Amino acid sequence: MTHPPTRRVRPSQLHLRGAAALRRYRLFVTSDNLRTTAGTSTGDASRPWTDLASGYERARSREDSLDRLVEWPAQRELLGDVRGLSVLDAGCGNGDKVAQLVREGGAVASVGVDISDNFVTGRPPGLSLVEGDLSDLSAVPCLAGRQFDRILFLQSFGYARDPVHALHAAKTLLTDDGFILLTRTQPIRYAIERAEQNGTSLGEEYFSTGPYSYQHKDWNEQVTLTKRPYTMSDLLNIFSAAGLWIETTVEPQMREPARRRYPHKQAVLNKYLGILLFKLRPLPG
Ligand SMILES: C[S@@+](CC[C@H](N)C(=O)[O-])C[C@H]1O[C@@H](n2cnc3c(N)ncnc32)[C@H](O)[C@@H]1O
Repeated sequence: MTHPPTRRVRPSQLHLRGAAALRRYRLFVTSDNLRTTAGTSTGDASRPWTDLASGYERARSREDSLDRLVEWPAQRELLGDVRGLSVLDAGCGNGDKVAQLVREGGAVASVGVDISDNFVTGRPPGLSLVEGDLSDLSAVPCLAGRQFDRILFLQSFGYARDPVHALHAAKTLLTDDGFILLTRTQPIRYAIERAEQNGTSLGEEYFSTGPYSYQHKDWNEQVTLTKRPYTMSDLLNIFSAAGLWIETTVEPQMREPARRRYPHKQAVLNKYLGILLFKLRPLPG
């Protein structure tokens, strides 16, 4: 979900800039991994989600949430007809989206996996919701030997410890003509936010690489999230390194009636752009 501005903490950590900082933290991609030169995980910290889960779902279910107005409709459209298809939703939140795909879309034998155990009750037959780490889906016990027609990483991919490994593992669970639907927030959004907070420029923040922490006022102000900045090239190189090609990319926006009804949300999109959706398929061979 794209969200209104966040409140940042510990500004002193955020000023790793210039050539030295770039040398220290810049991501490099090889054919089978992607790590910082400091050797640490490249993922955003996911531990706080056990405390954030209920606040996130409350915000997401609001009538004017960008997830309801823009993101889920666009995700649903790119997924297309899922009748008779199996879906694996990695980082599924409370599982509501994959439950809808089964209940209303006719998906079968589907699974939602999330690190936080905050799942909807009353799930439809044919859907399992399990606690697990999306960093290596092939190691989640109930997924052993399974294959899926669609694998979703909806605003969850950033939490993978090693993004290339996570996509490699997901790829092994795809059917021959299956695809991965992956969404991420436009990286420029975070750069704009940090540039405003730090009194710096868009370019400085877009190309900065040190982790930064913030609290999300709409979810739970008590919980601090830590994120790692990424650029568009970081993201595209991750897909290539994982052996995936991009069939379609979408940058969804609000439809006209919603723009008129929720001008405050249009203002958020005007400023922060929104999210990116990628339909990814395995490279042949
Ligand atoms: C921004 S929410 C997105 C939820 C849902 N996919 C959606 O589109 O509404 C991120 C989700 O990723 C989950 N998550 C974070 N780290 C994870 C991990 N390492 N393994 C599995 N799920 C994780 C969180 O618990 C949270 O539900």
